[in-house]
Amino acid sequence: MRHDSHGPIGVFDSGIGGLTVLKTLMAHLPHESTLYLGDTARVPYGTKSSEVVTKYSLKNAQFLQARGIKLLVVACNTASAAALPALAATLPIPVVGVIEPGARAALARTSGGGVGVIGTPGTIRSGAYQRALEAGGRAVRVKARACPLFVPLVEEGWTTGDVPMLVAREYLSEFARDGVDTLVLGCTHYPLLKGVIAEVVGPQVSLVDSAEATAQAVVELLAAKDLMAPAGGPPPSHHFFVTDVPEVFADVGARFLGRPIPSAELVDLSF
Ligand code: DGL
Repeated sequence: MRHDSHGPIGVFDSGIGGLTVLKTLMAHLPHESTLYLGDTARVPYGTKSSEVVTKYSLKNAQFLQARGIKLLVVACNTASAAALPALAATLPIPVVGVIEPGARAALARTSGGGVGVIGTPGTIRSGAYQRALEAGGRAVRVKARACPLFVPLVEEGWTTGDVPMLVAREYLSEFARDGVDTLVLGCTHYPLLKGVIAEVVGPQVSLVDSAEATAQAVVELLAAKDLMAPAGGPPPSHHFFVTDVPEVFADVGARFLGRPIPSAELVDLSF
């Protein structure tokens, strides 16, 4: 198996949410080919136990690795929180999750040390962001909260208006009160709610998008390991695999990726 600079970057998520990470990766690395796997048959991961999420994540990684990827991006916060150590221990290629980069970006951003984290129940329960923030060598006060209704709202396309605003107020008003100056959007779907979230927490709170920080980490890692696709090579290709309902993935996913998804290939991971 080749793991040289010519291979694609593998990206997986529980479904469509990781396309926000892929979008940022494609913007930072326009010459790189990618293979994206959305585990749409088993989404959501955010409500499941870390054991089950780890099992699914290992299967996803195995599928992509068999297709010659040179680096794996775990584009799902819940999967990064649960499975990153198991993935890194199992795979012979570099593995990048979204938690460490997101936490690092938040630490660089906070002025007063009050950092908020929002994510799925699984991500928040794991304590992964909290640990990464506290291990950063700065005195920080971390306030974390699960916002389980945000994912279905975004998938419905309800990212503006009264309904998301009401839900965001319920979840986030306390952040505005608690001296938080930086809020980590610790879920793939939350960047699509940025407008509503920003309005609720106010302009004094800076929002950290883990996707942006992760793309930066991938750029640095590819450069450090001499794995960047050579300039002047063949044009990059982007292939999408899903474990269920490819038409819905292509349709809804276009909103996340910010460009059309011509097709997604249905695959069976029950091997
Ligand atoms: N991709 C998940 C995450 O970032 C959100 C969707 C899910 O619960 O599977 O945590």
